[in-house]
Amino acid sequence: SREYKLVMLGAGGVGKSAMTMQFISHRFPEDHDPTIVLCCWQNTGGGKRNFVWPFQKSCYSLQRLRILLSFLDYEEAEDAYKIRIRIDDEPANLDILDTAGQAEFTAMRDQYMRAGEGFIICYSITDRRSFHEVREFKQLIYRVRRTDDTPVVLVGNKSDLKQLRQVTREEGLALAREFSCPFFETSAAYRYYIDDVFHALVREIRRK
Ligand code: GTP
Ligand code: MG
Repeated sequence: SREYKLVMLGAGGVGKSAMTMQFISHRFPEDHDPTIVLCCWQNTGGGKRNFVWPFQKSCYSLQRLRILLSFLDYEEAEDAYKIRIRIDDEPANLDILDTAGQAEFTAMRDQYMRAGEGFIICYSITDRRSFHEVREFKQLIYRVRRTDDTPVVLVGNKSDLKQLRQVTREEGLALAREFSCPFFETSAAYRYYIDDVFHALVREIRRK
């Protein structure tokens, strides 16, 4: 069955890791453990180094490193970040890359931007700045892929924190209309609309 390479994008602390963890293992991490991405370099002699692929602090195990490498077609992987499900009665193997919000190395970013087939752009409804950053991520995707029909889903997370809301549902909907993409307000804490996000993205990829 078909494989789908999905990438989580969004500002730091919006809940990318929490959403991924809820989707895959039905668990919610209470603490913010910032996802950190380290670069792998390979010495090629003569003082030269080759860029290999980033791996995440939380992904030190060889298994998890493999899935990151698989985004570059290096190796097959089985891991928590890989999940096999059925969507609309068709099987789908999902590879999910959970990126770091405080992003840093452009070279690395460009690599997963190219390798990914679909992107979940997240903001937090409690953080207006993260909403503004959405546009930057959308432009970044365009800059790397040079096409406007890359499958994207827009997500406003932390919908359970109603009293801290800074971004209205209407603003989210308007931006999604501009992008012509599906939109969900989710809560990773309560697992609201988490499955819907991933299913919608797979449907977007299948349509293209
Ligand atoms: P970086 O890895 O730094 O980019 O952050 P991230 O986007 O992966 O955020 P993470 O999943 O680590 O969540 C950040 C904090 O927000 C954690 O304390 C989570 O418990 C909390 N959080 C995430 N999603 C939700 C949600 O839906 N509701 C509430 N109330 N808290 C959430
Ligand atoms: Mg994270």
